[in-house]
Order: sequence, then structure tokens, then C-alpha cells
Amino acid sequence: MLDEKTPTYPPSDAFASTAHIDAATYEEMYAASIEDPEGFWGEHGKRIDWIKPYSIVKNTNFDFGNVSIKWYEDGTLNVAANCIDRHLEARGDQTAIIWEPDDPTEDALHISYRDLHREVCEMANVLKALGVGKGDRVVLYLPMIPEAAYAMLACARIGAIHSIVFAGFSADALGARINGCDAKVVITADGAPRGGRVTNLKDNVNQALLNVIHTCQSLVVRRTGQQVAWRSETDHWLHEMKETVSDDCPAEEIGAEDPLFILYTSGSTGQPKGVVHTSGGYLVYAAMTHQMTFDYHDGDVYWCTADVGWVTGHSYIVYGPLANGGTTVMFEGVPTYPDASRFWQVCEKHKVNQFYTAPTAIRALMGKGKEFVEKSDLSSLKTLGTVGEPINPEAWNWYNEVVGKGTCPIVDTWWQTETGGHLLTPLPGATATKPGSAMTPFFGIKPVVLEPESGKIIDDDPAEGVLCIADSWPAQMRTVWEDHPRFEATYFQQYKGYYFTGDGCRRDEDGHYWITGRVDDVINVSGHRMGTAEVESALVAHEAVSEAAVVGYPHDVKGQGIYAYVTLMSNKEPTDELRKELEVWVRSEIGPIAKPDLIQWAPGLPKTRSGKIMRRILRKIAENDYGSLGDTSTLAEPEVVDNLIENRMNR
Ligand code: WT7
Repeated sequence: MLDEKTPTYPPSDAFASTAHIDAATYEEMYAASIEDPEGFWGEHGKRIDWIKPYSIVKNTNFDFGNVSIKWYEDGTLNVAANCIDRHLEARGDQTAIIWEPDDPTEDALHISYRDLHREVCEMANVLKALGVGKGDRVVLYLPMIPEAAYAMLACARIGAIHSIVFAGFSADALGARINGCDAKVVITADGAPRGGRVTNLKDNVNQALLNVIHTCQSLVVRRTGQQVAWRSETDHWLHEMKETVSDDCPAEEIGAEDPLFILYTSGSTGQPKGVVHTSGGYLVYAAMTHQMTFDYHDGDVYWCTADVGWVTGHSYIVYGPLANGGTTVMFEGVPTYPDASRFWQVCEKHKVNQFYTAPTAIRALMGKGKEFVEKSDLSSLKTLGTVGEPINPEAWNWYNEVVGKGTCPIVDTWWQTETGGHLLTPLPGATATKPGSAMTPFFGIKPVVLEPESGKIIDDDPAEGVLCIADSWPAQMRTVWEDHPRFEATYFQQYKGYYFTGDGCRRDEDGHYWITGRVDDVINVSGHRMGTAEVESALVAHEAVSEAAVVGYPHDVKGQGIYAYVTLMSNKEPTDELRKELEVWVRSEIGPIAKPDLIQWAPGLPKTRSGKIMRRILRKIAENDYGSLGDTSTLAEPEVVDNLIENRMNR
């Protein structure tokens, strides 16, 4: 029985009656997808165009030691042709991309499918002229400008593999990723305007390349027109090179299992991993989820506010919407510039029908007051989505009432860089939603809740434990770039036979899923994943630091904030200047999103007698919940804890 206090929000009859999927269809299709995955995905694979049709649908193995994931393996296709060429005949003049610049007084662009075809062909020919071919890697370090989408699709067109590095990452992080995949070319811009300020991207690239041993050329988009330091041997202006190439470029025939992109993401240990996604299954799943999760219909204007530097931007700004022949908005700016009405102004201006953003943005805007929403006409909105972290019911209600006026279904989509697309999500015409719950599995997804220690399946509802997935789906990541053992160890070792998500979850009396957050040493800052190990290694790389331990703590707007315990070298004084210096240091090692919110000087860290840091205790202190530290009997030096509690920062 459902707790009487939990309200549910069913779609209106009117919404359900025109939706792609209503409640009955969901039940029927879900059952079919689980009973006969081959039949189901064999059929849905047809939503994209194949050069050579597949005969083998699914060939997947989750057994640790032999993990192998292949979908549609004998089919061939071209992802860019699916996102562009196949739409030219019916909708060549339809807008594919609406680009909204950072500065609202600058003109927006409406890029048709025909324009997109020309731009992507030219960019593809430029890449070829720079020596890029099938299987080569290209790093993108770009602002949210149309060229980011052109570059992704240009790579896809010629079979090159793109690896996007979020433009907010530092030169060091960029250098590591260029090295990590031996990129032949890095595509960047002179500068990136965002929120009225400009980041000098080209400078960062120059600095990053100082640490790159192999030859890497750069292709530079002129966005701001600012002065840049030019490396004459290896730098090329895109606009100059475009003059020299043809505007037609054949789409290569690509194997379904050839990599489409690499995207680095943080894990609980070590440096970020290069998540590899391939072509066929990924595109099928991105297109299908985009259509069904948002109930996207032909002619709708869809806006996902993410950055293409994250997987959300890959699947739900570029690949999913364009594979569906949709109109997708690309926004260069931030929600609060020039003021907190910007999102809603853009929704009004472009008559946005589906809007997809992160809980952290909703909380930040909620804090500014509803006046900012109410001055815009939001009557075009039909579906609202969220992604990135659990959404608290207060923010959910505000989104529902103030933004959606109680008439737009909200889809809280749970997924990961690794999953390529939505795994748990309401469907807007089918699901009676509950604020804060990701609700139900998408077609073909078999979630299971396991006891954390024993790994035993919990069948009965309600259930609480770790979330695993029992079988593969087409957009699952295939491997870690050049490190398959790490792939297996991270996702298939702990719970044999399952894909381990790293998230904890609760399944309620009705069988609905509630994500409770990470169960590993990964924290979620404003919907961005951060490995505590990464921040720690940045901190200890500073000459004043002898040891560091980093944990998350609840933060009103960001979801989680970064709390760092730092032990200094014995000859260093704990001063406020040093604290500032460490903040700047972490920003430059990783990027602004990794900057610790709170740094506590720790004369010692709580450790077991074998020397393992007891993070559970550090988490409790950071949460200001030190009354319930749990079992502390294994502490080597219990007095260390008293000192940390005494000097805690989050009071
Ligand atoms: C982690 C994945 C997938 C794109 C954005 C983040 C958390 C994501 C939700 C949600 C609760 C969520 C999980 C997940 N997460 N969406 N709707 N409700 N938690 O991608 O950087 O790969 O992070 O984000 O903890 O494991 P990512």
C-alpha cells in the first residue's frame, strides 16, 4: 500500500491520449522487452537507418573475467547520416539546431538540416585535411556553440572518435585527456563567453599541449575575435580551412560496434576513466529514450540545458534529438545571466515544448523567487525533465507548480555516463509520478536491489540496497578506453553477474525506485560527478600538504559540497592565505567544479590500526552529525576524532 501522504501526479487524460506511450502500452511493451530482448530490440533497432542491416541483435556477457557487450554487431551504419542526411528530403529546411548565445542581445541562430549538412561536411573535410581518419581520436574543448555539434557529427561522419572535455576543466585536465587517447587534433575556440565573462580556451589548450609529447594539431573556431597566442606549426583557423575544402563529404560505413566517442568520468579510485560508447546500439537507445521519455513529437522544440561536455549533452542535445529529426536548442550561457529569468525568457522566445535541466539549477532559481518565472509566457511547455542527482520534493513541487503550472508531467531521469541513456524514468503519458522518485525502468532494463554485504537479491517490496542491472541494454558502455580490466573490475567484480551502478536505492511498496545517492567515494556536486580520490590527489600534489581526505556534505544548492580535511607538512602554518591558495590550486589542477567548499586543517586523520582512513567518520563530521559516529573501536588514535569534531567547519 502506498503511504497516504505520498501524493502522486498522473498525467492528464488529454496528455495521455496523444502521448507515444500511455500506461497500458508501457506495461505491455515493458513485459515484451523483458520476455524477449532480442525480438524487442531487433524491432526497435529499425528506428535508425542501417547501411548493412544486422542479423545478430544481442551478444552480451556480464560474467566477470569474460565481460563483453555487443549489440547489432554485424550491422553497419553512419551516425551522422542518421542525424542529418536521412532527414534532408522531408525536412531539409526545418530547424535542426536553435542556438541561443550567452548575450541575449546577440542574434540567435536557426540552423536547418540543410545548413547542418553543409557545416558538418565542411568540418569533416577539414579534419580529413588534417590527417584524421577512421578510428583516430579528436578532442573537443569548446564553448556551447554550434561548432561543437558540427565537430561531433563531423567525427561521426568519417568514423573518428571524439572525446569532449568540458570547457570548465583546467589545462592540466585537458592535457591528461589529450594524452590519454593520443588525440591527433584538438578542436577549440579563441574564447568562451559564459555569464558575461570570457574564458581563454586557446590559452588553456596551449598550456595543455606543453605536456603532450605526441604531435597534436589544433583547430580553432573564432568565437570572440580576441587576441590569441598562435603556434604557427600546428594551429589552424577553422574559418580559413573551410575555404579550402568541399562542402560535400561522403558518410563512411561504420561498424555498429566501432567507437563513437570516449568521455572521461570520475570513479571512486584513481584518475577519471575513458568511458567508451559505440555507434549502433547507442544511437538506437538515445533516439528512442529521447522520443519516449520526453514524449517528443515532430515539430516540437526541445531544450536540454546541459553542456555537451557531459553525457547529457551527447545523448540529449545532439544524438537523440537529431536522430529523431527534432529541433534542439543549444544554449551558450548560464541560468542567471543577465538575470534569473534567462531560462524562462529563452523558453518563451523559442516556444520550447520540452525542457530538461538539473535539480541544482532548479534550486538556485527557486532561491531567486518566482517573479523571475512569472514574467515569461511558458504556455508552450509540455514536459519537464530533471537529471543528475536526486531531486528534493520541495524543488520538484516548485518545478511542477511555478514552472509547469501543474500541467506538465515531470520526468526525473536516472542514468549515468556509463549507461548512455535513461534507465529509470517516468514516461510522461504513462506514469503517475511521485516527487523525488525516478519511478520505473525504461524498456529492456532489469533493475535489481541487492543486499550490500551479501550481494543477495532482495525480491520483496519495499527493498533497500545497492542498485544493479541484471542484463545489458543497447547504449551500455562497452569498455574503458584501453583498459578493459578496469572496466570489469569497476562494474562487474563486486556483484557477480550484474552491472553495478555505484548507487544506492530504495524500491517502495509499489515497486517504484528512489535513488538514495552513491555508495562509493564519488560525490555529486551540482549534478557533476567528482571522485574524492581525484580531489585528494590534487591536494597532496601541493607542496604544503602531507595528507588529505575529501568527503561530500549536504549543500542547499549544489546537492553536495566538497569538504576537505587537510594535514599540512610539519613546517607549514595553517593560515587563511594557505586555504585560499589550496582552493586556487585545486581549481587549476582540475577545474572550478572541484574547488573544495570547506577546508578543515586536520592535525591527524582517523585511521584504523592498519592505516586505512575511516571515511565514514569523516563523512559524519562533515555532515555535522557527529553524535552518531558508529563503531569507533577500530580507531588507532581515538583522540584525533575529538580534535576534528571540535574544529569542524560545517556548523
Ligand atoms: C550519477 C551519474 C546521467 C547524466 C548526468 C550525470 C546521479 C543521475 C539522477 C537522478 C538521482 C541521479 C547518480 C548517478 N544521478 N541522475 N535522476 N536521480 N541521482 O551523469 O556524471 O555519469 O553521474 O549521477 O548518482 O550514478 P554522471
